[in-house]
Amino acid sequence: MSSQPVIPARPEQLEAILLVGGQGTRLRPLTISTPKPLLPTAGVPFLAHQLAKAAAAGVTRVVLATSYRAAMFSECLGDGSAFGLEIVYVQEDTPLGTGGAIRNAAQALHSAPASPVIVLNGDVLSGHDLAAQLDLHSKMDAAVTLHLVEVPDPARFGCVPTDTDGRVTAFLEKTPHPVTNRINAGCYVFRRSVIDVIKPGVVTSVERETFPGLIDAGEVVMGYPDTSYWLDVGTPEAFVQGSCDLVLGRLHSPALRASGVPGEMLVLEGARVDPAARVTGGTVVGAGCLIEAGAQVAGSVLFDGVRIGAGAQVSASVLGCGVQIGESAVLERAVIGDGARVATGNELRAGMRLWPGVDLGPTSVRFSTDV
Ligand code: GDD
Ligand code: MG
Repeated sequence: MSSQPVIPARPEQLEAILLVGGQGTRLRPLTISTPKPLLPTAGVPFLAHQLAKAAAAGVTRVVLATSYRAAMFSECLGDGSAFGLEIVYVQEDTPLGTGGAIRNAAQALHSAPASPVIVLNGDVLSGHDLAAQLDLHSKMDAAVTLHLVEVPDPARFGCVPTDTDGRVTAFLEKTPHPVTNRINAGCYVFRRSVIDVIKPGVVTSVERETFPGLIDAGEVVMGYPDTSYWLDVGTPEAFVQGSCDLVLGRLHSPALRASGVPGEMLVLEGARVDPAARVTGGTVVGAGCLIEAGAQVAGSVLFDGVRIGAGAQVSASVLGCGVQIGESAVLERAVIGDGARVATGNELRAGMRLWPGVDLGPTSVRFSTDV
């Protein structure tokens, strides 16, 4: 007789905390006006992908741990009913770090001390099976269970070695000498009582203080290793990549169910792409954009109201709201702030960034559709 796997019972209300208080410095100037988790990604605010995924895994209530530009979150996401969730908002007056933010958000939780609570970094796209991570956590009766992935450049992340049973043996945040390519993917399941032990109101790093402390104390900290799609969208290159991957269907997001993905481009309401323009590579053409004849746009993100002149070439770039790119201009890996204008004939390459409203002359921006 084969033995049946033990499936732990799920609590009736599964809660999650989303960490969204960071300033998104590496994504400036895009994050000057909009916090990173709300940047339009495959046509919806980035958080929509995480919220829809959480809901699909059985989460019913989400506490958003906000700090930077806090008010914009509730304006954008409301009470969460659009995602089939209840969203509540907690704000830090001054940023408390990842650990302090989790502790602060715990005030708004309903979960019992022994119940699992999911905690997510607010800038990660992931195809991993959250329900399976929860099951491992319950089965092992762990204090915390960390989603782990392998990356080629572990020094930029939290390096997380495990033993042969999958138990985490150390947590080395952004170490110049990583001992493994396996890193913290920014999705945790905490036993709620473990969160309550973090000191309230004190700046604390979950990566540098809480996790190493739990390991030193002999608590069970488990790794949930996984090989499915994973990306931290915290840099311009990764942000563009993530949006394109969603449009191309490399990662399925339940937030995009009704849209035109997968495809080479996603064209939002009221946008016009001239039939003689070429738009490829999972580019998003935001609402009300205009792309003129002969323009080539590859693997890029155009926020709303962008205009691209005839014959311009744009690749691997992100263009803020209302940006105007003149005829025959060339943009490659450029980041252009809201309302900036790049005049005819300019070339911006290799990660160049233009601040909002900058007018890059010398000639004025012309469009063949202007009268
Ligand atoms: N509320 C609040 N308050 N949120 C914060 C604060 C804070 O003081 N500081 C950071 N956050 C949020 C950010 O908004 C983001 O969603 C998340 O915490 C992680 O911060 P990042 O700034 O994106 O950190 P990182 O990418 O350098 O490193 C983290 O993520 C990696 C995986 O992407 C760490 O957790 C690494 O260990 C991990 O490998
Ligand atoms: Mg990050």
